[in-house]
Amino acid sequence: MKIPPVKGTRDFYPQDMAVRNWIIDGWKKVSVRNGFEEYDGPIFEYLKMFQLKSGDEIVEQLFSLKDRGGRDLAIRPEITPTLARMVNQKINSLPRPIKWFSVPRLCRAERPQRGRLREFFQWNIDIIGVEDGLKKNLADAEVIFTTVDYLRKVGLTDKDIKVKISSREVLANYLRSLDVPEDKLEPIYVVLDKKNKLPSETFEQMLGEQVPDNKIVNKIVDFMSVDSIPQLEELVKIKSESGEYSAYLDIKMVLDNLTMMGIKDFCVYDPSIVRGLAYYTGIVFEVHDTAGELRAICGGGRYDNLLRDFGGPAIPATGMGMGDCVLEILLREKGLLKPEPRELDYFVACIGFIGEEAWRIVAKLRSMGYSAAFSYKAGNLSKQLKEASAQKAEKCIIIGQEEIEEGKIKVKDMATGQQKKIDEDKFFEELKSESK
Ligand code: HAM
Repeated sequence: MKIPPVKGTRDFYPQDMAVRNWIIDGWKKVSVRNGFEEYDGPIFEYLKMFQLKSGDEIVEQLFSLKDRGGRDLAIRPEITPTLARMVNQKINSLPRPIKWFSVPRLCRAERPQRGRLREFFQWNIDIIGVEDGLKKNLADAEVIFTTVDYLRKVGLTDKDIKVKISSREVLANYLRSLDVPEDKLEPIYVVLDKKNKLPSETFEQMLGEQVPDNKIVNKIVDFMSVDSIPQLEELVKIKSESGEYSAYLDIKMVLDNLTMMGIKDFCVYDPSIVRGLAYYTGIVFEVHDTAGELRAICGGGRYDNLLRDFGGPAIPATGMGMGDCVLEILLREKGLLKPEPRELDYFVACIGFIGEEAWRIVAKLRSMGYSAAFSYKAGNLSKQLKEASAQKAEKCIIIGQEEIEEGKIKVKDMATGQQKKIDEDKFFEELKSESK
């Protein structure tokens, strides 16, 4: 009986694994150079962890299970609630700000489609505990900078991708100024988040279901089409004549910081970014391909109430998550996928059936920290040399009956083709001095 893989999952054959490792290694390197420390949590949590604050969309996509004690659990669809739980647990002993990163394997029972699967890897970076207003803007900018730092490192330019930035708070204030009731804000965010994924009539109809007044619907649609900071300033200034703090300043400050950090050309204000998750409270952003052909490459934002909602103190937080699926598609399309070839220091080839001699040398090399391989096929020398090339060996050691009798080995440099015969003992003596 043949059992197929489960829908929306992937098998990682060695070639695929090389790609996955290359992506994840890049995420980790960039996290570290931007000052983030790695953490991880369990692959499943209590079901209520994800029901509490992530929003209906995530709840509908949960893989949930009951353990033998009848406890309701779920496989993690994201790691942010786990992060909030872990930070709350040790809040008094953790030096702030907390700058942590993680690359969890996540599961969401989504409809599998291009760039969206049921199991994927997601790079997370988060900054928790920056309290001061202006520094909060700097923390939001640092999260965006780190994201772009990675995307630039793999070769993407501002022609390929854009960071679309907006603010939940600006939107909330605008909706309040239109007398939209407080309990309607969240359902409206859910509809607005779908704006770019739906035909405009369907979108307006869905919005109409939440906001019965057509005039208000039109005003919301107008707000969603503002595409510059001066235009936004005009709109929110009219609404905040009282001179009170206007959340639009956050957008302006974050964009100013990003200009100062040298990545202005990657960033644009875009009010259509609302985000699907319920816990965001301020700046929100997503990175999209400029061609607009793919789903979001990543998304994140400020979530100042999540730690408090999980029973901890009210500590501000900001962060982002980037999946491996859309990223891989985009990098493949652009010819930027460059998994590192497997490294092999030595391939040991033997002339005639003296496999145990080859094994002795392979074992010695490996014990000294070098990667070494030999052929199980015991073909003729040219076949073995082909195998060595296929395995990208840097050097080939060749031994035959003659060499064994003389206590020597032949060492062939696979790049130059140069070959020399030396005493085996001397060879290993020299290797020892440069041993890894
Ligand atoms: P999210 O928007 O749900 O945010 O996911 C962020 C990213 O994860 C997406 O932009 C996409 O790259 C990837 N992703 C999500 N679902 C799938 C899927 N089914 N298949 C493949 N990739 C997927 C969050 O998860 C937040 N917790 C991010 C965050 C961290 N916000 C603050 N800190």
